[in-house]
Amino acid sequence: MGAVTVRVPAKVNLHLSVGARREDGYHDLVNVFHAVSLFDDVTVREAEGFSVARDGDEAAAMPADEDNLAVHAARALAREAGVESGVELHIRKAIPVAGGMAGGSADAAAALVACNELWNTGLGREELVEVAGGLGSDVPFALLGGTAVGLGRGERLSPALVRGSFHWVLAFAREQLSTAAVYAECDRLRKERGEEAPRLRVPRRLMAALAAGDAEALGAALANDLQPAALTLCARLRRTLTAGRENGALGAVVSGSGPTCAFLAGSERHALDLAVALSGAGVCRSVVRAYGPVPGAQVVPNPED
Ligand code: C5P
Repeated sequence: MGAVTVRVPAKVNLHLSVGARREDGYHDLVNVFHAVSLFDDVTVREAEGFSVARDGDEAAAMPADEDNLAVHAARALAREAGVESGVELHIRKAIPVAGGMAGGSADAAAALVACNELWNTGLGREELVEVAGGLGSDVPFALLGGTAVGLGRGERLSPALVRGSFHWVLAFAREQLSTAAVYAECDRLRKERGEEAPRLRVPRRLMAALAAGDAEALGAALANDLQPAALTLCARLRRTLTAGRENGALGAVVSGSGPTCAFLAGSERHALDLAVALSGAGVCRSVVRAYGPVPGAQVVPNPED
């Protein structure tokens, strides 16, 4: 087989409750993931060693070779499946790097699916999910896609019931945020304010809004415990969120550890108006529209064939 291309979506977090820090340094979560139509394409070809090349709008900031999570993923799968050869990865990047949209995790999930196909390993979906969980908390969701509740550190997933689709406007920031730094800031702020970690519960109102396809109720139910920490580390996101709310967003939230902000619109038309208003307000680096939910990592025809 010559080359395999896999298309993989970004995620936004519709709800993120962060529990107390565990002994292993992670936090238990209730994390409602939602895959949106902003995609990276990962192409793999048989090669001697492991390497990664990149292009696309968001490629410049992407880590090279050994620091790239997609390379770790390919190596992990080779070990698991007893494959001796390497791969050359090519990533067409549209998901912002260190943006709170799980772009690195998405590329890792895509690399797993693509290499699994290229090497014809015979490993099934469940075995891939197992390898994915070892690579990062958000990698299993990038395999699954759709909308799902993640427990544990986010890797124990169950699909959510969703009616129809939702329209989003995403504001990319000029800054990047390290996930670990945002969790650490969340712990620090709680300590400083004498706050306890919340009891972790699946958000009923939000799940009902998803099942009913009710964008207004969903907008009102968006929540993210990491948002105060992201706003402390990146103060200008306040202006971005305010600009979205002032222009009629049904909901405005920092996605995951940020700094990307996600705005829920009531219709495609509303999303277009909101995107134009946010671009004009000069409160972010760039603005894209997307819809969700969309499926997880999938093999697609190679664009060069
Ligand atoms: O799992 P992943 O490598 O994506 O996590 C990056 C960092 O985010 C972890 O090293 C940890 O500091 C933090 N994290 C956490 N609790 C989680 C997920 C991530 O503290 N549930």
